[in-house]
Amino acid sequence: MKFPSMRMRRLRENEEIRRLVRETNLTTDDLIYPLFAVNGKSVKNPVKSMPGVYQLSVDLIVKEVRKCREMGILGVILFGIPAYKDEVGSSSYDENEAVQRAIVAIKKDCPELLVITDVCMCEYTSHGHCGIIKNRHVLNDPTLEILGKIALSHARAGADMVAPSAMMDGQVAFIRKTLDDNGYENIPIMAYSAKFASAYYGPFRDAVGSTPQFGDRRGYQMDFANADEAVREVWLDLEEGADIVMVKPALAYMDIIHRVKNEFKVPVAAYNVSGEYAMIKAAADKGWIDEKRIVMETLIAMKRAGADIILTYHAKDVALWLKEGRV
Ligand code: PBG
Ligand code: ZN
Repeated sequence: MKFPSMRMRRLRENEEIRRLVRETNLTTDDLIYPLFAVNGKSVKNPVKSMPGVYQLSVDLIVKEVRKCREMGILGVILFGIPAYKDEVGSSSYDENEAVQRAIVAIKKDCPELLVITDVCMCEYTSHGHCGIIKNRHVLNDPTLEILGKIALSHARAGADMVAPSAMMDGQVAFIRKTLDDNGYENIPIMAYSAKFASAYYGPFRDAVGSTPQFGDRRGYQMDFANADEAVREVWLDLEEGADIVMVKPALAYMDIIHRVKNEFKVPVAAYNVSGEYAMIKAAADKGWIDEKRIVMETLIAMKRAGADIILTYHAKDVALWLKEGRV
C-alpha cells in the first residue's frame, strides 16, 4: 500500500495517537544514578565540570538516596573519594572508607534500593591508573587480586551488585570466583565489558581526582575505532560469568550498544558518561539547547539502540520530569 491510500502522518496527528504507537519508552525503572562518596560529615563539594553533581559524605548520600527512592529510581552506583591514596590503592578495600560505609548506611536506611559499586583502583592509586604499576606498565594479574578484594569488601558491606571497570583481562572470572568462594554466589556482576579509552571521561576524573599521573589508559581500555573487538570483549565477559554487560561511553557508541544487544540478547547497560552530561549542561546553561528535550531524546535513543539500563547523572532530573507528566 502506498500514497495516497497510505499516509504515515495519520499516526502522528496528536499526542495521544503518538503515544499509542510509540515503540520506545523511558521509565525510572531504566535508570541508575551515580553518586560520589567522600569522607567527613555534611560535606557537599560541587564538581565544577558537572553542574548538579557533588561529592557527598555518607550522611548526605543517605538523604540523596532517599530522594531517589521517592522518585522511583531503583538503584545507584557508588564511586569513592578516599582519605588516602597509595601505589597499590589499599584504601579501595578499606572497610572504613567512604564507599564501604555508604553501602552500609544506605542498606540500613533504604534496604530496597539497589546499591551497585564500581570496582576499580584508579580512584585509590597515587598514580591514578586502574591497576598495579611496574616500570610504568599496568600489570594485569596482580591487579586481579586487588579487584577481588575490592568486590569482596563491597559485598561484605552489603552491596547488591558489583561493577568491575578496570578493563583487566579475566577480571569478571576472578571476581565471580572470589564472590562464590565467600558465599556471595547470588551477587550479580555488571561488567564494564566494552569500555573505551575516551576523552568523555574528563569531568569524572575531576570529580574523583583520578587523572593518570603519567601516560593514559589506552593500554587497557579499548581503542574507540573498534567494534568487532567490543563484541569479543562482551562475549568473553559473558563466558566469565557477567550477568549484565555494559557499553561505555554511550552517545558516540550507539552502534556498539546495538550490536551487543542483537548479538547476545542479554541485559545491556549503557553509561551516559560525565563528558556527555557536561556538554548538555554547558549548552543548556548558555540557553543554546532545551535541556529537558535534549536529555529525553538522548536517553530514549540509547534505549532504542538496545540499552535496557542507563547509568546517568540526569537520572534524578528525568525522574522528576517523568513524574510531572508529559515529556
Ligand atoms: C573508573 C571509571 C571511570 C568512569 C567510571 N569508572 C573513568 C575512567 O576510566 O577514568 C567514567 C565515568 C564517567 O565519565 O562518567 N575506571
Ligand atoms: Zn579505573
